[in-house]
Amino acid sequence: MAEELRIRSNGDLASALEDYLAEWSGRSGIAVEIWALPGQAVSRRVAQAVYATVVEALANVERHSHARLVSVAVTTGKAGLRMTVSDDGAGFAVDEAAPNAARGLTAMRAHFAGVGGTLTVNSVPGGGTTVTGVVRAG
Ligand SMILES: Nc1ncnc2c1ncn2[C@@H]1O[C@H](COP(=O)(O)OP(=O)(O)OP(=O)(O)O)[C@@H](O)[C@H]1O
Ligand SMILES: [Mg+2]
Repeated sequence: MAEELRIRSNGDLASALEDYLAEWSGRSGIAVEIWALPGQAVSRRVAQAVYATVVEALANVERHSHARLVSVAVTTGKAGLRMTVSDDGAGFAVDEAAPNAARGLTAMRAHFAGVGGTLTVNSVPGGGTTVTGVVRAG
């Protein structure tokens, strides 16, 4: 995947995200608010999973949400890494009983599952969407 090449071998997730978010915002015309970027190094595998998930989440924001603002936070601490991508757009009905089989949501879950983490999607029709991924440090 081309996006993966942007993360240099030293795994500088914060600057890779910063660059991508600025570029995406300029292209989409949707404002991005960066609440936090990872303050400590994460493994290359985790960095790739987070980066690929942010790319996918933003693709959905651009394509489906009609949002004006998307907020991004990636924090690291003793408990691990937490990523949230939250938009103020249209939202949609997330059917927990029959998880949406579309490629994007499945891919985001798979990225986090692949590094031992979990990903959840919360959305309220008319109230925006938040994608949250959590993974233990490593
Ligand atoms: N941020 C969002 N705002 C509004 N609706 C969303 C958002 N993210 C996802 N959705 C809804 O969830 C559906 C599933 O998303 P998913 O990314 O899995 O598939 P997709 O974007 O339709 O296609 P693709 O496989 O190309 O990603 C979307 O079709 C859309 O209806
Ligand atoms: Mg999608």
